[in-house]
Amino acid sequence: MDLKISEIRERFNNLNPKSREDLEKIRIEFLGRNGHVTKLFEEFKSIPSELKREFGKGLNTLKTEIQNKIQEWKSEIESNSTSNVDIDITLQEYPISFGSRHPISLVKNELIEIFKYLGFTVYEGPEIEDDWHVFSALNFPEEHPARDMQDTFFITKGPDVLLRTHTSSVQVRSMEKEDLPIRVICPGRVFRNEAISARAHCIFHQIEGLYIDKNVSFADLKQTLLYFAKEMFGTDTKIRLRPSYFPFTEPSAEMDVSCKLCGGKGCSVCKYTGWLEVLGCGMVDPNVLELNGIDSKKYSGFAFGMGIERIAMLKYQVKDLRLYFENDVRFLNQFKNW
Ligand code: PHE
Repeated sequence: MDLKISEIRERFNNLNPKSREDLEKIRIEFLGRNGHVTKLFEEFKSIPSELKREFGKGLNTLKTEIQNKIQEWKSEIESNSTSNVDIDITLQEYPISFGSRHPISLVKNELIEIFKYLGFTVYEGPEIEDDWHVFSALNFPEEHPARDMQDTFFITKGPDVLLRTHTSSVQVRSMEKEDLPIRVICPGRVFRNEAISARAHCIFHQIEGLYIDKNVSFADLKQTLLYFAKEMFGTDTKIRLRPSYFPFTEPSAEMDVSCKLCGGKGCSVCKYTGWLEVLGCGMVDPNVLELNGIDSKKYSGFAFGMGIERIAMLKYQVKDLRLYFENDVRFLNQFKNW
């Protein structure tokens, strides 16, 4: 048996395969079902058991040696084979397609940049909230319709745990924690119990702003919003403030920007009015300041809030809100170069 082992080893060591085919032949000749090594293992079964220990060891060593050498030859042949092939290095690389930012992220980042320039910092808070931060601290009366199950997603009732319906809740948190003056913008996801359509969704994004200091006036609010409108929609953009109502601001207003598409003349996008509604705003109601422990005799503030989807729709001329949530790559790919 010893002799057979060394014979096989010698035969194997004299080989010098040049190709994958040669190597496969060798593998079959030695390790295949009828290969030399396999046959020796067969023979091994019938030798007297006193000898098994000695020969078993030799046989196993031979098998591993052959296996390792075959592996080594294999890697050698593979690495050589590429250097022998005629490669055209001028060929164009297989195109790798990169992803792109979601339009909502693009607009959100742009808004953050605009307000950052005016000294606003980003403030974030939880999506799951309590009644205090979403409604009570913002002067919502007990019977306000927003507190209804039809408008708000409640997780539990009494104590009320709910999904925030606006990021004004984060403004409350900033008043709770931060020293005055406060100058924050609060971007984030909000939830409302609404039927999904081209113009409404039960999930969307907002960015809300809050500025509280001594002597903050409506003129400061107006100038801040005019600056934002010009930065976002172009320097020739005009703004218009219409009286409105929010429980947490007094006076309250809604802001329109002049329609960029028709230059204010009237078209289908602005529904022939020349104006597009973009946000809600107002002077923080003194009640809200007091509810949040701020002396309304010393301090005043303004707040505003807008839907990011709405701004993105105006900016990119997207007609259906649902597109933002379906994540169809044919839609998303269009934002590659923005
Ligand atoms: N929170 C209001 C909304 O969700 C927007 C708003 C914010 C209005 C601040 C006025 C002031 O519609």
